[in-house]
Amino acid sequence: MSEAMTHDPRRVTVRAPAKINLHLGVGAPRPDGYHPLATVYQAVGLYDDVTVSTWHEWTVQVRLEGLLADPAASGRPHDPERSHGVVPLGEDNIAVRAGRALVEHHGLDLAAAITIHKSIPVSGGMAGGSADAAAALVALDRLWELETSDEDLLAIAATLGSDVPFALLGGTAAGTGRGELVEPLPDTGSWWWVVVGNDTGLSTPAVYGAFDELTDLDDRDEPFLPPDLLLSLAEGSLVALPGQVGNDLQEAALSLRPDLVQTFDDGYEAGALECLLSGSGPTVLLLCSDADHAREVTAAMHAAGHARAVAVPAPVSGVHVVSYDGGPVG
Ligand code: C5P
Repeated sequence: MSEAMTHDPRRVTVRAPAKINLHLGVGAPRPDGYHPLATVYQAVGLYDDVTVSTWHEWTVQVRLEGLLADPAASGRPHDPERSHGVVPLGEDNIAVRAGRALVEHHGLDLAAAITIHKSIPVSGGMAGGSADAAAALVALDRLWELETSDEDLLAIAATLGSDVPFALLGGTAAGTGRGELVEPLPDTGSWWWVVVGNDTGLSTPAVYGAFDELTDLDDRDEPFLPPDLLLSLAEGSLVALPGQVGNDLQEAALSLRPDLVQTFDDGYEAGALECLLSGSGPTVLLLCSDADHAREVTAAMHAAGHARAVAVPAPVSGVHVVSYDGGPVG
C-alpha cells in the first residue's frame, strides 16, 4: 500500500437503515443448513452510520447512539467510549469482513479505519450487523472511487449475510432464497411502527434451531409471499394490514423468551393495531395508524416500563452517503 494512501485524510460516512419483516415465511432447512425464506422486508427509520478513512490496517470502533446509549433505557451507566459487549471489534466484525471482500473483489491491497455509530439494536432481529456491512461496502466504494456496479455490490453483500443485500436496497422488498435474493415491491403507504427494543439479545441460529424443533419439517410447505399483504402495500391501505403481517419464527422466539409475551400484551394494551416479532427477535414491533398514534403508543409503552420503545416511519431508503470529509453532502 502506498504512503499517500495510508495518509489520505478523506472520510466518508454512509447511513444504513434497520429492517423489519412484515411477513417471514420459513421452510424446512436446505442441505446447506439455511432455511428457504419468502419474506417481505421493510426498511425503517432507525439507522447506523458508518465512517471510513484509509488506514494501514483494518480497525473498527463502535459508538452507541440514541436509545442504545441512554442510561435511562438500560439502567446501566453510560460510557460513550465503551463499545457494546456483543459487537465483535476485530476481524470478525461484519463491516471489516465487508471491507476485505470489497478489496479482494477489486484485487487491491487497501485497509481502512471504520467507526460504527450504532442506533440499531444489537442481536435484536433488525439486521443491524447487515446494515453495517452494507454501509461499509458503499462507504469504501466511494472513498476509494472503485465504482463497483450495483450488481457486484449486491453479489458481495450476499456473501456476507442473508440480510445484507436488502440493506443496500431499502424501501420495501421481497426476499427469497435464504433472504439474499431481493426485488423491490410497490409500497405506496406511509407506515408507522413502534420498535420495542430489549436489553438482552437473541441468537438468530438459536431461534432457527428452536423453529426446527417445534415444526413438523417433513410436512412443511415451501414458503410463499402472501398476495393480500402485497396488495395492501401496493395500495397503501392500512385496513387489512394488521391481519396480514406475520412471522413464522415468532413461536420459536417466544419459546426461548417467554417474557416477550408480556411485551405483546403491553403492546395491545397500549393500543397497537398489531404486534409482531421483528425477524428472529427479541425486538417487538407495534403497528400504528399514523405518527400521532405512534407517539401515543410509545408513551404508553414507556409508562409500562419499556424504556427502549421508539416510533419510526417506514419505508425509508437503503444505504446512502451522508457526508464526505466530515461535511454534509451537497
Ligand atoms: O445469513 P446470516 O449470516 O445472517 O445467517 C445467520 C444464521 O441464521 C445462519 O448461520 C443460520 O443459522 C440462520 N439462518 C437460516 N436461514 C436463513 C437465514 C439465516 O437458518 N435463511
